[in-house]
Amino acid sequence: MNIIFLGPPGAGKGTQSKLLEERYGLVQISTGDMLRAEVASGSAIGAEAKALMHAGKLVPDALIIAMLKDRIAQKDCQNGFILDGFPRTLAQAEELDQMLKADGKRIDVVLFLNVDEEILADRISGRFTCANCGRTYNEVSNPPKQAGVCDACGSHEFKRRADDKRETVVERLKEYRKLTAPILPFYEKLGLLHTINGMLPAEGVTAEIEAALGENP
Ligand code: AP5
Ligand code: ZN
Repeated sequence: MNIIFLGPPGAGKGTQSKLLEERYGLVQISTGDMLRAEVASGSAIGAEAKALMHAGKLVPDALIIAMLKDRIAQKDCQNGFILDGFPRTLAQAEELDQMLKADGKRIDVVLFLNVDEEILADRISGRFTCANCGRTYNEVSNPPKQAGVCDACGSHEFKRRADDKRETVVERLKEYRKLTAPILPFYEKLGLLHTINGMLPAEGVTAEIEAALGENP
């Protein structure tokens, strides 16, 4: 099964795709995580992406499409994948469609996490992740069970994202409205779009997702 998660910054795409990855044995592909790894390694791709990401802007389609194409060709993706953060523009959605068709594959379901904008900035400003295993937490809605200790791996080290500052979040939301929201009708026309109430507590969101996937086994 190949799944796409769509939704604005902070909607819970990363949180929910991690859960599905474990439950369904699918591979999560986060283009944001891939780009952050490129920036951290100081690669040429990272150098091109860094300033744009810090400004809350999307990176160029050609760069991200080439990166995604290489990633889904890898062996671990053959049993199914979850796209978290891709596609982000109509050009990316159309290119993905062509790429998969050429390989005899397709997207089975598109899950749109619908969250009101007022909620998003608070979610993002409260977000932190485990520096060791990448588990995502939130100061208010999803703290670790034991303060300062990662539930998943026991690490005491946490980090915050450079683009989670309020002024950058405003730009990320603008980019979402202008470039990403317009791809919802593309998937609606294909009959693949399921709208999920992303404002429920995380477990409630997971339950809605599982109901949607039940209709698309
Ligand atoms: P990316 O890393 O993809 O960021 P994003 O889309 O802005 O999404 P986020 O990771 O901020 O949010 P999320 O929906 O995953 O929420 P999360 O689960 O963490 O992209 C970063 C940048 O990379 C882009 O700006 C762009 O520059 C570039 N980029 C990436 N892909 C690209 C592409 N395809 N094309 C061009 N450029 C690209 O949850 C957020 C917080 O809320 C957490 O604290 C979490 O614990 C909490 N939370 C989650 N669910 C709930 C809930 N139900 N109730 C309460 N709290 C919750
Ligand atoms: Zn951890």
